[in-house]
Amino acid sequence: MKTHERIDGMRNGVSRRSFVKSVGMGASAAAIMSYDGPRAWARAMSLALPVQERPLLLHNNENPLGPGTRVIAAMNEALEGGPRAGRYPGGAIGELVEAIAGRHNIPADHVMVGNGSTQLLRSATHVFTSPTKHLVTASPSYEEARDYATLNGHPVEALPLKDMSLDLSAMADAARGAGLVFVNNPNNPTATLHSGDAIGALIDRILSETDAMIMVDEAYHDYVTDPRYETQIPRAIKEERVIVARTFSKAHGMAGMRIGWVVAHPDAIARMREWHYGLSLNIPSLIGARTSILDPDRIAHEAERNTAARQFTIDWFASRGIATTDSQANFIFARTGMPAGDFRAANQQRGILVGRDFPPYDREWSRISISTMDDMRRAVDVFDSVLPVATEQSNGRRSDAAA
Ligand SMILES: Cc1ncc(COP(=O)(O)O)c(C=O)c1O
Repeated sequence: MKTHERIDGMRNGVSRRSFVKSVGMGASAAAIMSYDGPRAWARAMSLALPVQERPLLLHNNENPLGPGTRVIAAMNEALEGGPRAGRYPGGAIGELVEAIAGRHNIPADHVMVGNGSTQLLRSATHVFTSPTKHLVTASPSYEEARDYATLNGHPVEALPLKDMSLDLSAMADAARGAGLVFVNNPNNPTATLHSGDAIGALIDRILSETDAMIMVDEAYHDYVTDPRYETQIPRAIKEERVIVARTFSKAHGMAGMRIGWVVAHPDAIARMREWHYGLSLNIPSLIGARTSILDPDRIAHEAERNTAARQFTIDWFASRGIATTDSQANFIFARTGMPAGDFRAANQQRGILVGRDFPPYDREWSRISISTMDDMRRAVDVFDSVLPVATEQSNGRRSDAAA
């Protein structure tokens, strides 16, 4: 499944006509609908429609507020008058790398930036896996490395989860002979994490028993509240085979600006550079990201905002008797008891987009991204009207499962 499909929450179930009716769209929506297929329509919907006609986007784990005002101002300023946008971005790349290194107190030659962390995940998969060196990942987990390895004809071992979390021991076993082990902590879509000690022990095992590279994707780092969690950046500074990936797409609110970064050994960065197209970045994004990373207070504030809205949503599901995993991210994974496709279609009819299918959990579980508190209040009212049906269905299904 490719990225353009992942951002499309509109494919399943409900007709376009019923959705338009339910959210009361006017002539502008109709015009957008008529020009292309549903996928383009879905994309256009969120950008071109008047605010009151837009669906509530709880399907892509995005930050509903976007970047901070200082970041927006810096990006605007970067373009003012024109000359800076007329230059290649090399200088701005260097400035961002220095800012990331300074903020994390690490050497700049251990940092590489990319067009979203997606580009870096792809570059790492490209150079560290091969037809004879497989990728180890989990299932379900973030799919980019898996999909990119598959696209290149490189074998993939995707280990099932254990108790809704990465099965670290199975992943370590599968790492023998592997080129790259992809470890998403916290894991998308289940939102669960492993402690710093547990990930540290996994790294120890892989380093001592194999010659595989290890990439720990910490995209949701800023949203973690579990005190047992630790970033693996110090490990990526010490160990030649450990890479940590981060993104500006989540807490920094810059998914549309496409900037991510890795911390890795300079030799690993040199290997990735053999494939990585370094000038895939643009001046406003680079300057915005630099401004954002130099403003940690705003990220702390954003994390608090997310924690409150996340807890509100988890508590609402609990009040309905619906379990959620221990979410450490800006999304939750809820056992609605109904097929994810049905839950998605019913919400879509009522103007809310929720997450895609995550087999094998798609029979009963759905991923819901966390937005603002106001949005989540609106969302749970809609879930309330969707779930009575679900609860009846799920009772049958749960007893089946228990049998
Ligand atoms: C775990 C994980 N890594 C990476 C990404 C992609 O990040 P970016 O926008 O930096 O490419 C996502 C996006 O949802 C994600 O969930």
